[in-house]
Amino acid sequence: MSYLGILLLIILAVLISFVWTQFVGAPWVPSSTKTVRTMLTMAKVKPGELVYDLGCGDGRIIIMAARHFGALAVGIEIDPLRYLWSQIRIRFLGLSDRVSIKYGNFYKYDLSQADVITCYLLQDTNKKIATKLNRELKPRARVVSNTFTFPTLSLLQKNKELGIFIYKKKNGNRV
Ligand SMILES: C[S@@+](CC[C@H](N)C(=O)[O-])C[C@H]1O[C@@H](n2cnc3c(N)ncnc32)[C@H](O)[C@@H]1O
Repeated sequence: MSYLGILLLIILAVLISFVWTQFVGAPWVPSSTKTVRTMLTMAKVKPGELVYDLGCGDGRIIIMAARHFGALAVGIEIDPLRYLWSQIRIRFLGLSDRVSIKYGNFYKYDLSQADVITCYLLQDTNKKIATKLNRELKPRARVVSNTFTFPTLSLLQKNKELGIFIYKKKNGNRV
């Protein structure tokens, strides 16, 4: 392949990751390791619980949920390159029996089996997905959001320093 071909591929990848994804939910910006650990700790993720990351990026949240918290984890990712990269990481780390990645739009997936939902999206996207979360989630399920809030869910806890918010659905039970 020529240099021009490689350059065009790189430009396409950047456009998909940082421009197109913004219109379907959020661009790729990874959560820091400290934030991921705090999100999962605040959500009190227990061994065997099912964690979903909406827009899993490179898979860092679901990988930590499985490796350090003993959870079963599912990531949903719409960017084909991030989807492939997270699949490779999970296989390489030997986590395929506990972690899976679904390709596509998280609005289209059933979230009713989740014990914990994690996300790092945008304020408008949270607003759109909140209706689905209030409709589908189990009463005891926790929603953990990095940076952006969910005004129509019930706030359980927040970490101001890191900007982490824990919610349950409206009329859900306390953890
Ligand atoms: C800010 S990044 C967060 C990545 C990861 N959750 C983390 O915290 O490190 C948002 C991710 O959501 C993905 N995304 C955006 N809209 C989406 C949608 N509608 N369905 C599935 N994934 C989406 C993006 O491609 C991106 O990887």
